Amino acid sequence: MVPESEPGKSTATEDHVFYPPPELRTDAHVPDLETYKTMYKKSVEKPEEFWSELAKEFYWKSSPTGKFLDYNFDVTKGKIYVKFMEGAITNICYNIIDRNITEKNLGDKIAYFWEGNDPNDCLRISYKDLLKHVCKCANVLKKLGVKKGDRVAVYLPMIPELLYTMLACARIGAVHSIVFAGFSAESLCDRILDSQCAYLITADGFFRGEKMVNLKQIADEALEKCRDKENFAVKACIVVKHLGTRLKKMNNCNQLQISWNSDTDLWWHDLMANAAEVCEPEWLSVEDPLFILYTSGSTGKPKGVLHTVGGYLLYTAATFKYVFNYQPDDIYWCTADIGWITGHSYITYGPLANGATSVMFEGIPVYPQVDRFWEIIEKYKVTTFYTAPTAIRMLMKYGEEPVKKHNLKSLKILGSVGEPINPEAWMWYYRFIGNSRCPIVDTFWQTETGGHVMTPLPAAFPLKPGSATLPFFGVVPALLNEHGEELLGEAEGYLVFSQPWPSLMRTIYGNHERFESTYFRKFPGFYVTGDGCRRDKDGYYWITGRIDDMLNVSGHLLSTAEVESALTEHLAVAEAAVVSRPHPVKGECLYCFVTLRDGHDLTDALTTELRAHVREKIGPIASPDFIQSAPGLPKTRSGKIMRRVLRQIARNERDLGDISTLADPSIVEVLFSQRCQAAA
Ligand code: PRX
Repeated sequence: MVPESEPGKSTATEDHVFYPPPELRTDAHVPDLETYKTMYKKSVEKPEEFWSELAKEFYWKSSPTGKFLDYNFDVTKGKIYVKFMEGAITNICYNIIDRNITEKNLGDKIAYFWEGNDPNDCLRISYKDLLKHVCKCANVLKKLGVKKGDRVAVYLPMIPELLYTMLACARIGAVHSIVFAGFSAESLCDRILDSQCAYLITADGFFRGEKMVNLKQIADEALEKCRDKENFAVKACIVVKHLGTRLKKMNNCNQLQISWNSDTDLWWHDLMANAAEVCEPEWLSVEDPLFILYTSGSTGKPKGVLHTVGGYLLYTAATFKYVFNYQPDDIYWCTADIGWITGHSYITYGPLANGATSVMFEGIPVYPQVDRFWEIIEKYKVTTFYTAPTAIRMLMKYGEEPVKKHNLKSLKILGSVGEPINPEAWMWYYRFIGNSRCPIVDTFWQTETGGHVMTPLPAAFPLKPGSATLPFFGVVPALLNEHGEELLGEAEGYLVFSQPWPSLMRTIYGNHERFESTYFRKFPGFYVTGDGCRRDKDGYYWITGRIDDMLNVSGHLLSTAEVESALTEHLAVAEAAVVSRPHPVKGECLYCFVTLRDGHDLTDALTTELRAHVREKIGPIASPDFIQSAPGLPKTRSGKIMRRVLRQIARNERDLGDISTLADPSIVEVLFSQRCQAAA
C-alpha cells in the first residue's frame, strides 16, 4: 500500500514503504528480495567465486597469479592492504571501449549525448568516435613524454575532452588526477604539487549559465603558485579551445583574452590534428593505479584517494548494472560533474563498462530556464536519472509547473547521491518527477569506496524515504559504539565495514600512514566511514551524516580545518572555528566564528572580504553563509574548542549538555547574544 504523504510535509517515516512497480521485475537483474539475499550471501561468504564470475564479462590478458582476494584490515596485525585478482593483467580503457566495439558490436551506438550549457550546443559521440578521440589523445600524451605511472592533472569543465583525456590516461597507464573546475588556483596548485603532476590539461574557459569563467587564467595562477611554493614547473599545459569557439559562434566581440606561456602551453587542437587514430593499450597489472581523486581531510590538507585498475573496473561495472537495473536500450543521465567521484564512477567508467548510452551535461539546472533538467529528460527520453538532493531541493522551490511542461514518461528509475535525502525532497522527487511509479535508489558511498556500498536495488527492494536500505554485494556493514563494540538489531552508531569489496581505495597517494590512521586506526579490523548510521527494525540502514570534522555542503565534503585555515590566513583573523548549520537547499552550510586581531572590527566590508578570501583559497562551494565575530571561543582547559557548543549557537538551540569543563563558560552566553540572524 502506498501511504498518503503531502510533499513539503515531513510525514514520511520509516513505516512508509514504497514497493517497486511489477513491470520493472520482468527484465530485472535482481527481481526480488530473495534473489538479492542469495546473491548477497554468496558475495560475502565466497567473494572469490562471486567476483570471478563477474570478471568473466571482461578481458584479462592474463589471469591472477595469487589469491583472488587478499587483504588485512587490522592495524594491530601489520600493514593495511587490499588486493583483488593479484597478478592479472588488463586495461580498463580497452575493456570499456574497444571490447564494446569488437565483441559486442556497439561501435555505432551512442556512448554520449553531450549537451552544452547552451541548449543548441550538442554532440553525439558513438563508441567508435570515442575510441578515435581517446586514441588520438593517448598518442598526443605519449608524444609529449607521458609514461605509465606519470600523474596528469586535468582541470576541465564538463566537455567531451574531459572524457577523452581521462580515458587516454587510462589507456596508456598514466594516472589521472581530475580537479573539479570550480576549485580555486590555490586548490589546483596544492593538488598538482601533492602528486607532482608534470602535465596539466585545461581549457580556455567556459560558460556556467550566464557566467563566463576564464579557466586558463586560474590555471596560470595555479602554475605560478607551484613555482613560488616548490619551484615546480609542469612540462606541458595543454589548452582546449572551448570558450573561444563558442564566443566566435555567438559573434561576441568581447573575445576572451588569455595569456600564453610559449615554453609550456600547447593548443589541444594543434596537437590532435595530426595524431594517429590507433593506439595500442598499455597492459597493466590490476593493482596498478588508475587515478587519484582528492577529497577533504580533517587536517585541512586534502587526501589523494588512490584507486586501482582491476577492482575499480569490476565494481563500477557491477554497481551500474544492478543499482540502475541497466538494460541495453536505456538512456542514462547522471547530473554530477566528472570532477567528483560520482562522475568518475557513474558518468565514465560504470556506464561505459556496460556499453550504455549516457547524457553528459555541461550546464546548470536553472539555465536558460528552471526547467532545463526536465527539458533534457524529454529531449533524450532519459530512462534513468541520477542527481543530488541539493538539486532536487533547489528545483522544488519552483513548484510543479516547470515539470508539467514536459513529458517525463520515459523515466523508469531515479537516483540520489551525495548526502542524506530528506523525506520532503524524496516525496517530491518520487511524485512529481517519477509520477509515483519510479523507484528512487538512494545510493550511499564515498570517494574512498569507489562505488555504491549501501543502496536499494530498484526492482527488488521496498523503499523507505531517506533510507539507503541494504548493503550492495560484497559489502559487510556494522555499527559500533564509541568503545568499538558491535551493536546488533535496532541501533545507532559508527558505520564501518569489516571486509573489502573490489573498489575500496588502496591508499592515500604518498601517505600510506595517513590512510591507515584515518580509516583503520580507530577500530582495528574495520574500515571506518566517518558517518553515523541507524539500523531500523527491518534491518534497513539510515545514514545520519558525518560524525567527524567534515561538513557536507550541497553534497560536497569540506573539512572544518580547511575553511578555518583559509580564514586564519587573513590578516584580520586571529582564530577561527567553523561548524555546520542546516540549510534548506544546500543541506548544510558554513557558520564561522572568527576572533579578530586587535584593531579590526567585523564590518560588512570585512565580512565580504573574508567570504571572498575563502572562495579564493578553496573555491565557491566553501563560501561561508554566516560569519560571526567571537571575542573568545568556548575551549576546554586544555585548549580544545568545544564544537558541539558552537553548533548549538549556530543553530540557536540550547541543548548544551555538560559545559563544566570549559575554561570560561561565560563566553557561551556572549556568543548566543551576538548570533548572526541572517546569512552574510
Ligand atoms: O556523508 C556521506 C555523504 O557523502 C560522503 C562522501 O562524500 P564524497 O566522498 O564527496 O562522495 C560523495 C558522492 C558519493 C559520505 O561520507 N553521502 C553520500 N551519499 C549519501 C551520503 N549520505 C547519505 N546518503 C547518501 N546517499
